[in-house]
Order: sequence, then C-alpha cells, then structure tokens
Amino acid sequence: ACFSLGVMVTMNQRLEADTLMLVADEFGFKIEFSDADVEEAAADDVEDLAEDLLPRAAVVTVMGHVDHGKTSLLDYIRKTNVIAGESGGITQHIGAYNVKLESGQRITFLDTPGHEAFTAMRARGAQITDIAIIVVAADDDVMPQTKEAIAHAQAAGVPMIIAINKVDKAGANPDKIREQLSAMNVLVEEWGGNVQAQEISAKFGNNVDLLLEKVLLQAEMLELKSNPNKQASGVVIEAALDKGRGYVATMLVQNGTLKVGDYVLAGKNHGKVKAMLDERGKAMESAGPSIPVTILGLDGAPTAGDKFRVFADEKEAKTIANKREQLQREQSIRTKKHLTLDEIGRRI
Ligand code: GTP
Ligand code: MG
Repeated sequence: ACFSLGVMVTMNQRLEADTLMLVADEFGFKIEFSDADVEEAAADDVEDLAEDLLPRAAVVTVMGHVDHGKTSLLDYIRKTNVIAGESGGITQHIGAYNVKLESGQRITFLDTPGHEAFTAMRARGAQITDIAIIVVAADDDVMPQTKEAIAHAQAAGVPMIIAINKVDKAGANPDKIREQLSAMNVLVEEWGGNVQAQEISAKFGNNVDLLLEKVLLQAEMLELKSNPNKQASGVVIEAALDKGRGYVATMLVQNGTLKVGDYVLAGKNHGKVKAMLDERGKAMESAGPSIPVTILGLDGAPTAGDKFRVFADEKEAKTIANKREQLQREQSIRTKKHLTLDEIGRRI
C-alpha cells in the first residue's frame, strides 16, 4: 500500500501519522491516535479523592518583552522575601523560585526570557503556570513579545495580571500602555475591563506589594489544590550537564512529593534522585506540589518541558526510557537528509 502511495519504506520502519492514516484508509480502517504520555498522566491522576487534595502555592510565570523588567521584578521580590535573608549561599540562576511572603503565603515564580528567540520557552512557561504576570515597561510600548506573551497566556487559558513597570522613569506613560492593551482587547480593571493591572517600579520596589496582593487574590479565586501524599509527577524546567555534579535537572513538582532516593523517569531519561537542591543550592529531602527543585542523579539531560514521574519499580522506568530513546533515535535518523557512513554503520 505504501509503495502504491509513492512512499518507499522497509518492513520495520515506523510511519508518520499522515501516512498511517492513508494506509489504513486503503484497507477501510480509521486510526485513533493516543499519546503515551497523556495516558500515563491520566492513569496517574484518576485516584485523587477530594479529601486528599490540599491547597498548594500558585505557580506564577513572569513574561514580557526583552528588558521590560521581569528579572528586576523577581530580584526585588526575592530580596524582600523572608527566606532570602536566611541564606548566605550564592543564588544559582534557574529561573524558578519559591518565595515565602511576609504574610507566610508562598508563591512559585518562573522567570522567562523576553528575547524573541525564546518563543518555545515562553509557551512552556505559560502552559505550566496558574497565573501569568505580563510586564510592560511604561517608557516603551506594547511590543511584539508583549503581544506574544499575552497570546501564550490566552492560548493556555491562564489569567493575566499586567505589571506596568518603570513608572519611575521620566518618559513613563502608563495610560498609553493601557490604551495599547485595550486596542488588542485586553481591558484593564481601571478602564472597566476584567484584567487586573498594577503600576510598579521593579527597580525601586514601588507598589510591588500591591502587585503581589493581586496575584494572591487571583490565586485564591483559582482554589489551587493537589495531593501531596503520593509519588511525585511534574515537569522539567531545564537540564544540563554540570562538570562536577553530572546531569542536573530543574523540575517543578506538580503532584505528590518528590524525595531523595525516588526513582524518576523524565522524558527519555531516568535515574535515582541522589540529591535535591533548592534554588540557592541548599540540600532538600523532599519537595511537594508547586515546589521547584534541582535534582542530581539522572542518566542524561531531559528536554525542557518533558514530564517527569516517580516509579516504584526501577525496571519499568528504565523500559519506558529506553523505548522513548529508541523512538527518538529513529525519528532523528528519519528526518536527517544525509546519512554519514559512520551512522549507517551504527544502525547495523
Ligand atoms: P530579559 O530577561 O532580557 O527579557 O529582560 P528583563 O525583562 O528581565 O529585564 P531586566 O529586569 O533585566 O531589566 C532591564 C533593565 O531595565 C535593567 O537595566 C533594569 O535595571 C531596568 N529596569 C527594570 N525595571 C525598572 C524600573 O522599574 N525602573 C527603572 N528605572 N529601570 C528598570
Ligand atoms: Mg530577565
């Protein structure tokens, strides 16, 4: 059937979804596609009973155009937060911070880059968050990546809070920003809309407390809950090979509690958690829902955005990891235009 469709294949080659549908059609069948990851996640989440669900901290992603002040905002928030004072350790930049406010409430912040090259990172940020803070500099305009960030938040169905930043600057014109936002159908509360907004100066910390109040108000309305008393699952934020420590991966726990000694499958990688660190490099024994952690012990660097899950059985995790690895290898060979002699040798 493939040959008659003009697709030259061998017996044991995997086909693209489109080709599969055409071939099945030839034989009078319809194909239903299912995603292994989705099935796994579904199998993982069904058993939660209402009484097992406990409140969890909101995950808040900060997005916006390059240089509009996202990292400055987080720097300020982290400087004034309670735990910041406790640690003399050097902060490692992982872009994910769990912050304890003076009120005792916790929020997990994810920083994202504003440069246009990082669209995928912003999209991922929007997908794993509960709330998006869109930072717009009042001495500038609503810019391309401001619009993109808003589009990501809307596509992910995530409530937005607009932080109109740099109001301390001479050329700042917050009204112009509100107007430009309204032109793209984002109407802030002061103008009769339903999008919360707050003028701030991230650099000097002005009104950042009011912004945080709005974040907490929004979080309260979302009634965020999850079950901390089960094996952990969540998402990979970033991963890399560190010279001294091997593969390090920063993960956001979304469900359950991750512990040192757990056996983790993350994308096509797996391994036993040898150590867990918070964003300041301090050792942790466990991390519950909404907590970002850096873990040591994986056998490679999973891709940002990969889901992770703890397995009771090391063998099962290994089997799935190997299968994924194999699929990915086949995929990359298939999409490569020119095979080198060396690669052909390895395939045999
Ligand atoms: P990317 O991560 O590259 O997208 O940038 P960013 O949005 O994180 O911007 P960043 O926080 O690095 O700030 C960019 C510049 O703006 C820095 O020089 C900050 O000091 C300055 N800046 C940020 N917020 C304010 C503010 O409220 N007032 C003034 N005057 N300057 C600010
Ligand atoms: Mg930044």
